[in-house]
Amino acid sequence: MTSSFTRDDSGRLTVGGLVLEDIAAAHGTPLYVYSGDGIRADYRNFAAAVAPVNGKVHFALKANSALGVIALLAGEGAGADIVSGGELHRARAAGVPADMIVFSGVGKTAEEIGAALDAGIGQINAESAAEVEAISRVAAARDVVAPVALRVNVDVAPDTHAKISTGQRSTKFGVSTAQNEAASLYRRLAGDPHIRPAGLAVHIGSQILDLDPFARAYTALLDFGNALRGGGLPVPTLDLGGGIGVDYETGTATDFTAYGALVSRIFADSGFQLGFEPGRSIVANNGALLTRVIYLKDGDNKRFVIVDAAMNDLLRPTLYEAHHAVLPLGPAKTAEGPAAEGPADIVGPVCETGDYLAQDRMLPALAEGDGLAVMSAGAYGAVMASSYNSRPPAGEVMVLDGACHVLRRQRDIAELLAEETIPVLS
Ligand code: LLP
Repeated sequence: MTSSFTRDDSGRLTVGGLVLEDIAAAHGTPLYVYSGDGIRADYRNFAAAVAPVNGKVHFALKANSALGVIALLAGEGAGADIVSGGELHRARAAGVPADMIVFSGVGKTAEEIGAALDAGIGQINAESAAEVEAISRVAAARDVVAPVALRVNVDVAPDTHAKISTGQRSTKFGVSTAQNEAASLYRRLAGDPHIRPAGLAVHIGSQILDLDPFARAYTALLDFGNALRGGGLPVPTLDLGGGIGVDYETGTATDFTAYGALVSRIFADSGFQLGFEPGRSIVANNGALLTRVIYLKDGDNKRFVIVDAAMNDLLRPTLYEAHHAVLPLGPAKTAEGPAAEGPADIVGPVCETGDYLAQDRMLPALAEGDGLAVMSAGAYGAVMASSYNSRPPAGEVMVLDGACHVLRRQRDIAELLAEETIPVLS
């Protein structure tokens, strides 16, 4: 397995045959750069891994919802996993057919459910009795039949960051399969004239590197699905969610072979249509956030590299203590090698101590204006950006087939101010 970002013979970091320093110079920093070739290759690898079980793949838009990325994946045959009315619009605008869209999430409003039904959505994953009632009401008012799967909670705890672990019963996600709760709700929805029972869904968390929790959750889901079928209920689909972890240390593309083999082992000949919702594993290592050094500053016992990207552009280090490798765009400048200047924190200009992109990293000698790449930023990067400190979030470009395409330019402050009004004060 390879990385989408490699060094050329002169030591310059490149993607898809283009030099990142040139891209930064042309489009400015901070800037998200995606490898369209890498995204396409990783999607194909995932699709191939689940092809033996005839899986339907719905890319989880929350990981990266740039229209250009969605359209690229839609062109490869991917559907979309969405979690809001906004993502519904994005999926449709990027050309994802409505019947290849799955709507997840615990808090869909009546308006969002209505919009999904009007679009002809493929599947709504309901997460509570109250939501099933709401879907039924909205469908009845339109005199349509809503395709509804039930997201269940099988109480499997993956080994991942607490804030992105969804599998335990203590979380807000899914309807518990214990004490007949999910079974009686499924029976109820199956008997509702405005609902077509679409099956069951599970998603136990994100950035999961150990396959064992998947095996336990999927086995529990299969057993539950079979039990419902045994009770005479239609359960066409099992949606296995996303969650496959990636290598943030090296940025190497994910190998889906073992995951595919696991799924085949558990579900071969089970007679269920399977669905998948990968997000991070398709895009994370195909993106980097380019930034430039503004100042260098010596602290008490380490140095600070102050750059023009910040927590408003990439929140993951601040929010999850997430590790992102930081690489110089150019060749290392010192003869002594990468550790030449001792540990450094790479920090942004935002006025918070938690505003860092990386801590205690060994970096080569740097000067003001030097370019850096914060790696593995293709998932949950741009989508989680904000304009905190009135910093317009970074723009996004994608390199595909040897050309660099602007997906979204960085907004300017005038555009941000134009969204606001000042009340007439007496
Ligand atoms: N399906 C459902 C229902 C989900 O909730 C998620 C992610 C996915 C699929 C996609 O999971 P993936 O394959 O990307 O792991 N902001 C966090 C990650 C939050 C994930 C939320 N749900 C981060 O930056 O690590």
